[in-house]
Amino acid sequence: MQALITGGAGFIGSNIARALTAEGWGVRVLDDLSSGYRANLDGLPVDFRHGDVRDPLAVADAVAGCDVVFHLAASVGNKRSIDDPIGDASINVIGTLQVLEAARRSGVRKIVVSSSAGIYGELRTVPIHESHPLDPLTPYGASKLCMEKQCLAYAATHGIEAVALRYFNVYGPNQRFDAYGNVIPIFVFNALQGRPITIFGDGMQTRDFVNVADVVQANIKAATAPGVTGAFNIASASQTRILDLAVAVKDGLGVPVDIEFGPLRAGDVEHSLADIEAASNAFGYQPAITMEDGLPEYLAWARGEAPRTGTSQGN
Ligand SMILES: NC(=O)c1ccc[n+]([C@@H]2O[C@H](COP(=O)([O-])OP(=O)(O)OC[C@H]3O[C@@H](n4cnc5c(N)ncnc54)[C@H](O)[C@@H]3O)[C@@H](O)[C@H]2O)c1
Repeated sequence: MQALITGGAGFIGSNIARALTAEGWGVRVLDDLSSGYRANLDGLPVDFRHGDVRDPLAVADAVAGCDVVFHLAASVGNKRSIDDPIGDASINVIGTLQVLEAARRSGVRKIVVSSSAGIYGELRTVPIHESHPLDPLTPYGASKLCMEKQCLAYAATHGIEAVALRYFNVYGPNQRFDAYGNVIPIFVFNALQGRPITIFGDGMQTRDFVNVADVVQANIKAATAPGVTGAFNIASASQTRILDLAVAVKDGLGVPVDIEFGPLRAGDVEHSLADIEAASNAFGYQPAITMEDGLPEYLAWARGEAPRTGTSQGN
């Protein structure tokens, strides 16, 4: 099997590349290294193409001969999208359409796109089922919803199999800290640099953290399950309290940092928990990595990485 991974030099994409090459797939990566790192693919037998998913020629070239496309390239995160909504839409919407068009033209069998729980917006019912209202609160949530719908529209119009995976909070190796990062890398890299861990609110809020190994599993199972099209939650279906996470990071690293509390941020949800039955029924997705196992592995990785965080350009 030959796969293209757009955004394959990023956190999740590089973990998919590692798993696919280990399973004997041919892997091509298209990435502009805007937030990814060439070093994430070091030692892997991948055909790396430096390019932008908005460039139709680069995309057509990268898609040619592939059976499956894993589309992860994106402008990632709410804050980034609020700072630059045009850039966000240009990459997430137009870039996705370029990938879909190229995939259709070259006869790709299946496309698996990375969507986000951000498309749900304010949470009205927990656990969150795929039928929950889709009312994103940020440009990022809106662009991810649009790309997901475009993808499913291509499936309906052109018969290509398409799966959108709605990730909750993903963590694991190759997830570096940046200004737009998720809570786990922010806690970990602050603590490693001797800075306090800051919790917004009282820390009693919960999140559904999913290990990247389970997200990889979901991508490969969705890609290889014949006849599956649709949108599915990908999460651990378990809740972690933010205060417990902060304590686990501090204790796990063994560093003498303070845990501080700041005011709640507007728009932050109280509790997040996914219903993952649809993915389980459709393609056998079963999360296997608990926070107790996954966090120590991430802390060990982050200890080795801390000195070179903060700059992604040109890596
Ligand atoms: N990390 C999470 O918790 C999470 C949650 C929900 C959804 N997602 C989605 O998963 C996917 C991967 O996210 P990630 O966390 O690995 O982020 P990441 O920033 O590490 O990966 C994104 C990759 O896309 C590349 N890229 C960005 N713009 C590009 C462009 N115009 N052309 C080519 N390449 C481009 C970047 O260089 C990077 O390698 C994204 O689509 C994101 O929206 C992630």
